[in-house]
Amino acid sequence: MCAYKELTTSQRTIMTPGPVEAEPSVLRVMGSPILGQFDPEFTDIMNETMEMLRKLFQTSNHWAFPIDGTSRAGIEAVLCSIIEPGDRVLVPIYGRFGHLLTEISERYGADVITMETRWGSVFEPKDVIAEIERVQPKIVAMVHGETSTGCVQPLKEIGEACRRMDVLFVVDAVASIGGTEVKVDDWYIDACIGGTQKCLSVPSGMAPITFNSRIEELLLQRKKIERGLADPSAPKSAQTRTIRSNYFDLSQLMDYWGPARLNHHTEATTMLYALREGVRIALTEGLEARFARHRLHEQALVAGVLAMGLQLYGDPACKLPVVTCIKIPDGLDGESVRAMLLEDFHIEIASSFGPLKGTIWRIGTMGYSCRKKNILHVLGALEAVLIRHGARVHAGRAVQAALDIYDQEKGQNS
Ligand SMILES: Cc1ncc(COP(=O)(O)O)c(C=O)c1O
Repeated sequence: MCAYKELTTSQRTIMTPGPVEAEPSVLRVMGSPILGQFDPEFTDIMNETMEMLRKLFQTSNHWAFPIDGTSRAGIEAVLCSIIEPGDRVLVPIYGRFGHLLTEISERYGADVITMETRWGSVFEPKDVIAEIERVQPKIVAMVHGETSTGCVQPLKEIGEACRRMDVLFVVDAVASIGGTEVKVDDWYIDACIGGTQKCLSVPSGMAPITFNSRIEELLLQRKKIERGLADPSAPKSAQTRTIRSNYFDLSQLMDYWGPARLNHHTEATTMLYALREGVRIALTEGLEARFARHRLHEQALVAGVLAMGLQLYGDPACKLPVVTCIKIPDGLDGESVRAMLLEDFHIEIASSFGPLKGTIWRIGTMGYSCRKKNILHVLGALEAVLIRHGARVHAGRAVQAALDIYDQEKGQNS
């Protein structure tokens, strides 16, 4: 007989742009008893979660519910449900996740037109608007907070222009939701996708989304055509309008999350408990207070990093408050630094992708991981590890600079 040991995992300080440390109460509710998916106690939890998500997304949309799967499941559900083959989709790209929007759109047969700007910066809204006028797409799909570069794209003007030109505006707010302002209605976003494992401090495995009546109308239209296909006289061309995924078909999911409660998939019970708890904590803290907390710890981290003599990557004018990108000093092995942080201090920070691989570290200040103890811990440890690697740093200054920020904040609030 082969006896395996019960699973135990190490307690880490996770300072990546996700996944981050889970809220302790999120982990606790995940141990709650399973309820059947049509048990009224469970459907009440579903309804309540929808209500809480509307508040999180700052929307009056009726539709706000999670897609089971990681954040890209939410992106795929939205895009596959609204893209019909040949539809023109404009994707402005300023980092890795713009490429993900492109890839998913292409897989569903869209005619994708991209525009790119330098990584580490974002678009001037007027440039995107000019491109929308030129391309006349059905959909503009854009990332709000680019975790790969630590930049945040202003969206309101672009959203306004989309609405004026009757273009659907789809936004990936996976990294920003719950950590920095995301105003779905004020920014004219038609469909928005959030993430759980970042600023909500819930494990990965669900993607909260919201969409408005403009999207709903389109979905109902496609559904009507799909039903019509049962009619043998239906034109073959109508076939192309069927939503290509069963799992991600938002029109079916509306029937599952709506009063009809038509069986679609088996809801991920435990993950829904977790999401509800994560959002409950965010709303209890208050969105404004939560965003201010994220800004405070970001400021302390940045002050410490600069005091050490390191340089930030990216245009400070568009810095995403929940991700800080640091240039790896010349000649230093960035991966060796990360390995030592993990091994000796149990701290995880992230590397980066594509053109930035090996050139920057990324430190997340997200959700439950975004707290004073973690900021001081990561600064002290990073300084020690850099000295150990022979890097020239201003020893002893980083933690002090962060403490100064905390003292200033205390002074302002006392
Ligand atoms: C901005 C952004 N979009 C999408 C994703 C994809 O999310 P997931 O890995 O949960 O599918 C990520 C993941 O890091 C992200 O940061």
